[in-house]
Amino acid sequence: MYHHEIPAMRLSLLLLLLFLVAPAAAQLVAPPVVVPPGVAGGAQVPPPTKLSPDFYSQSCPRAERIIAEVVQAKQMANPTTAAGVLRVFFHDCFVSGCDASVLIASNQFAKSEQDAEINHSLPGDAFDAVVRSKLALELECPGVVSCADILSLASRVLVTMTGGPRYPVPLGRKDSLSSSPTAPDVELPHSNYTVDHLISMFGAKGFTVQELVALSGAHTLGFSHCQEFATRLYNFRDKGGKPEDFDPTMNPSYAKGLQVVCKDYLKDPTIAAFNDIITPGKFDNMYFVNLERGLGLLSTDEELWTDPRTKPLVQLYASNSTAFFDDFGRAMEKLSLYGVKTGADGEIRRRCDTYNNGPVPK
Ligand code: HEM
Ligand SMILES: *[C@@H]1O[C@H](CO)[C@@H](O)[C@H](O)[C@H]1NC(C)=O
Ligand SMILES: *[C@@H]1O[C@H](CO)[C@@H](O)[C@H](O)[C@H]1NC(C)=O
Ligand SMILES: *[C@@H]1O[C@H](CO)[C@@H](O)[C@H](O)[C@H]1NC(C)=O
Repeated sequence: MYHHEIPAMRLSLLLLLLFLVAPAAAQLVAPPVVVPPGVAGGAQVPPPTKLSPDFYSQSCPRAERIIAEVVQAKQMANPTTAAGVLRVFFHDCFVSGCDASVLIASNQFAKSEQDAEINHSLPGDAFDAVVRSKLALELECPGVVSCADILSLASRVLVTMTGGPRYPVPLGRKDSLSSSPTAPDVELPHSNYTVDHLISMFGAKGFTVQELVALSGAHTLGFSHCQEFATRLYNFRDKGGKPEDFDPTMNPSYAKGLQVVCKDYLKDPTIAAFNDIITPGKFDNMYFVNLERGLGLLSTDEELWTDPRTKPLVQLYASNSTAFFDDFGRAMEKLSLYGVKTGADGEIRRRCDTYNNGPVPK
């Protein structure tokens, strides 16, 4: 467990080694280093946390089944739930760890992550799926199952239900005691980022280029609002400033179709398009096949195909769905462990949208 902390530790140790070795102009090839857990260049690192898929086997043995029943019913009633939950899970984990901080409602006393600009579109159905799961769980085993665990499990259930892989979800996360309204805009990738930017942002959190590409495959589900890709459609200029009808990396019919769909987006900002135009509700590897054909919706999607560092991975996942599912599952498990809180660093919330000692929202 906690594989995600190892690259960061290795990196800091490697940097330290280079720093020590370089001035002496000694050999540039450092010997292989074994990093004992908890030791990184002498810095204090918290001991590895113990999460386990069996965490609730005594305290709430039906937890997983209850969550699955609730979110499956929700998904049947509203098929956009899966994409919404998956995106909320990503936003939760990338901003201060998988700790349900994204679920805290802002109120008159304190703003939360939900006030961040980037939240403008987090879907209400996703929050509702978690709230309903929590209500059912509180009836069965009150005060036991954390909201962070619910969000992690609900994501896996919905990925599997829409056709994607079933991957392990270790449990035992605590819920956060804070939620920052400014963190999301800094911690989350934006649709206008370059691949460089994406690689460094994911890298800073311990995720490899391969994991970045695999996780981006989540865009096989759901939709994006026109404002997230409108710069590719209207008044487009290439890097030299030359005007074009649209971003030339786009398939022309696709671009022209989107120009029509989005033409009133400034007046009606709710207009959106499917991320995967071919099989929008199915979790499959079509996202990658689309990128090869210029059918990527966001520029961050299509650039995975144009950048030489990510292109081979797009090709691999487009041609081999098993490879995608394997890597996606592993990357999701790793993401689900990112920055989790345990012990006194968190609590088991009674309601997912408020801290136990906080004011209850209306
Ligand atoms: C690689 C960097 C990423 C960027 C720049 C990015 C950006 C975006 C943007 C701009 C949207 C549209 C939001 C809207 O208009 O409502 C979106 C939707 C979505 N994203 Fe990402 N995302 C990234 C990675 C991820 C990851 C890692 C996941 C999950 C593992 C994810 C899951 C989703 C899902 C499922 C949707 C559809 C949401 C819905 O239909 O409600 N994204 N993303
Ligand atoms: C953030 O998203 C949630 C869920 O849709 C919504 O209830 C909340 O009002 C949003 N916050 C802002 C500031 O837009
Ligand atoms: C990306 O878009 C945001 C607004 O959504 C803007 O503030 C930022 O400057 C843009 N960044 C780049 C690199 O264009
Ligand atoms: C597809 O990927 C899987 C998993 O990595 C691998 O076992 C299999 O051999 C690959 N199939 C092909 C046709 O390359």
